[in-house]
Amino acid sequence: MGGSRWGENKTVAGRILSGNQIRDQILAELAEQVADLARRGVVPGLTAVLVGDDPASQIYVRNKMAACEKIGLRSRTLRPPADLSTEDLLAIVEELNADPEVDGILVQLPLPRQVDADRILLAIDPAKDVDGFHPMNVGALATGKPRLVSCTPAGLIEILKRSDIPIAGKRAVVLGRSNIVGKPAALLLLAENATVTVCHSRTQDLPSVAREADILVAALGRPAMIGADCIRPGAVVLDVGINRITDPAEAERIFARQPEKLARFREKGSILVGDVHPADMEELASAYTPVPGGVGPLTIAMLMSNTVRAAVLRRG
Ligand code: GUN
Repeated sequence: MGGSRWGENKTVAGRILSGNQIRDQILAELAEQVADLARRGVVPGLTAVLVGDDPASQIYVRNKMAACEKIGLRSRTLRPPADLSTEDLLAIVEELNADPEVDGILVQLPLPRQVDADRILLAIDPAKDVDGFHPMNVGALATGKPRLVSCTPAGLIEILKRSDIPIAGKRAVVLGRSNIVGKPAALLLLAENATVTVCHSRTQDLPSVAREADILVAALGRPAMIGADCIRPGAVVLDVGINRITDPAEAERIFARQPEKLARFREKGSILVGDVHPADMEELASAYTPVPGGVGPLTIAMLMSNTVRAAVLRRG
């Protein structure tokens, strides 16, 4: 054997957990299930409510509807104007709740400021709440009887399971405590028998807690904030962040060790980065989700999964 031994390598690139591949796998499985339901006369339907004309929301909703079409679900987008009132939107939600053809209701966030988002999310029939945001569904998850679970956290578990990464007994550290990602991610990891710690902006000495993680989930919404001091060598790192960088100095700093990415930034004037420093993650993690193409693609796949599940649960 030559002189180079595994242990002498300073940097060993970790395994890339491809969200695109896992998404395609899940969508293929769902397409079969949908075809099966169709043969029995059931075609699950998702209705999205897209308020106003926020460009990012338009792209997200378009991608969600495209996924519906791909796997054979009925889909529809309602586009009420940006100046509607909470009462107007409540009336739309009530109509969708009562419509037997609607299996899933998705009210795209953020909503305009004058709309009380909490009241809207509370008004959605929990049986049709494919985002898993309703307190009833959050409570079901918290008490260990999940029904419809928030899509991004559910996607994290799918990535781990489908990549044969064991969860039970492992130390999981979740960075971020949002209702949409951090908290449900912690509850799902707990349900899989991980030992779970949640860190947040007030955590003291966050790096030393993060370094305890066998499975590190970063969901803080801060570009490349989690660096080498937070990653135990060999940890599995799931990066939920999707941040668009446009500041050249910031790009130079973050991508100093990745010239090909820096070149792409210079060409396009912007680039996506997760919450974890990409070069540190590549060098230290045993496996990691890249940004883009890691956790992101799973969110839509799990929305499709929730829509099919809602249809099956609701229609018996
Ligand atoms: N806006 C950004 N992400 C989401 C999501 O997962 N669901 C909804 N409804 N709105 C969003």
